[in-house]
Amino acid sequence: MDLEAPLDCLSGGAEARHAKPSRKHSACRWEIPTRYNFPMPAAFEVRAVFKTFRHWWSRREVCALRNVSFAVQPGTIFGLLGPNGAGKTTLVKIALTIAYPDQGEIRVLGESVRNRSVLRSVGYLPENPRFPAHLTAWQVLRLYGSLSGADTKRVDANAANWLERLDLAGWRDVRVSKFSKGMNERLALAQALVHDPDFIFLDEPTDGLDPPGRREVRAICRELADQGKTIFINSHILAEIELICDRIALMKSGEIVEQGTIVELTSNQSGYELVVGVSNELRNWLHEKMLPFTAVDGHLHIHVPDRTSANSLIDALRAKNVEIDSLNVKKRTLESVFMEKVL
Ligand SMILES: Nc1ncnc2c1ncn2[C@@H]1O[C@H](COP(=O)(O)OP(=O)(O)OP(=O)(O)O)[C@@H](O)[C@H]1O
Ligand SMILES: [Mg+2]
Repeated sequence: MDLEAPLDCLSGGAEARHAKPSRKHSACRWEIPTRYNFPMPAAFEVRAVFKTFRHWWSRREVCALRNVSFAVQPGTIFGLLGPNGAGKTTLVKIALTIAYPDQGEIRVLGESVRNRSVLRSVGYLPENPRFPAHLTAWQVLRLYGSLSGADTKRVDANAANWLERLDLAGWRDVRVSKFSKGMNERLALAQALVHDPDFIFLDEPTDGLDPPGRREVRAICRELADQGKTIFINSHILAEIELICDRIALMKSGEIVEQGTIVELTSNQSGYELVVGVSNELRNWLHEKMLPFTAVDGHLHIHVPDRTSANSLIDALRAKNVEIDSLNVKKRTLESVFMEKVL
C-alpha cells in the first residue's frame, strides 16, 4: 500500500499556491490586449482599464486598477467582490467620470462614458453616502433627481414611491441630520433610483442596514433586474453577493482574478472527506502519514484532495480494520473561492 504518492499533492497544492509571486502596488507595466470578444450588447463594458494614483507629496504610486476587462449583460445583477483596497470603488468612480483612467475605456448602456449624457440614465449609491445636513429627505430626492435632468413630476412621483417603499414616508420632511445610519443608507438608495435609471451602481448597498433592510434591498434589486434594468454591486459581504447576484467577478489588488456565475465558480469539488470513529492509534497513524483531519463529536474527519487519494486511504483504513462511517464529496463555497483567489 503506497499512500505517499497520491497524498503528496496535499502539500504540493498549497506550496504551489504560496509559491506564486505577488505583484506589488507599483507602476503599471502591463500591455493592453488588442482584441476583446464581449458578448453584445452589454450594459456595461470595461476595456483594459488601468489607474494609478500618485501621492502628491511623496510621489509614491498606488496601482488601483491593472488591465481590468469584463462585461455585464442587461437585466442582470453583477457583483464585484474584493477585499478592502482592491479597487472596486475606483472602477465605479471612473465609470461615473469622477476619476479618469490612465488607459482603457468604459462603456455604459452602449455609450462611452466620455459622452457624459449617458450618465443621466445611471443611478449611483456611493459608499458612505452623505447629504447636506440642512435638507429634508424630500428635498434631497428632489435635488438629486433634478440634477439628473429628469422631469420634475416624474421625480416627485418616484420620490414619494421610494420613500414609502423604503419605510421613510414618515420622515419625508425631517432634516437628514436627524437620520440614523440605516435611514441615511435607505435614503441614499432612494436617491440612486429617483430618476428611474436603467443602470444602477450600488457601492456597498447594505452597509449599515438591519436584516429586514438588507432583505428589502435584495428584493428591490431583483424587481429592477426583472424590469430589464442592470445592477452593479460592489461588496465584500460574500453572503449578500451569493444571494443576490447573477454573475460575479473577484478583484484582487486591482486585477480581476476570477469571474462567472456562483454555480460556475463553486462547481469544482474541493476534495473528499472520510468520517471514521476516533481512536488514538488512528490519530497517531494519521499524524505519521501527515494527513489533515479534524475531530468532531467522537469522529475523525479526514481530508483528501482527490478521488485517487480517497480510494488509497479507504484501502489503507480497511486493511487496518477501521470502519468508515461516511465518505463526503466536498463542494467549494463562495467563501472558499474568495479565500483561495483573493486573500
Ligand atoms: N484618491 C486617491 N488617492 C490615492 N490613492 C487612492 C485614492 N483612491 C483610492 N486610492 C487607493 O486605490 C486603492 C483602491 O481603492 P478603492 O477605494 O478603489 O478600494 P475598494 O475596493 O473600494 O476598497 P473598500 O472595500 O475598502 O471600499 C487603494 O489602495 C486606495 O488606497
Ligand atoms: Mg470601496
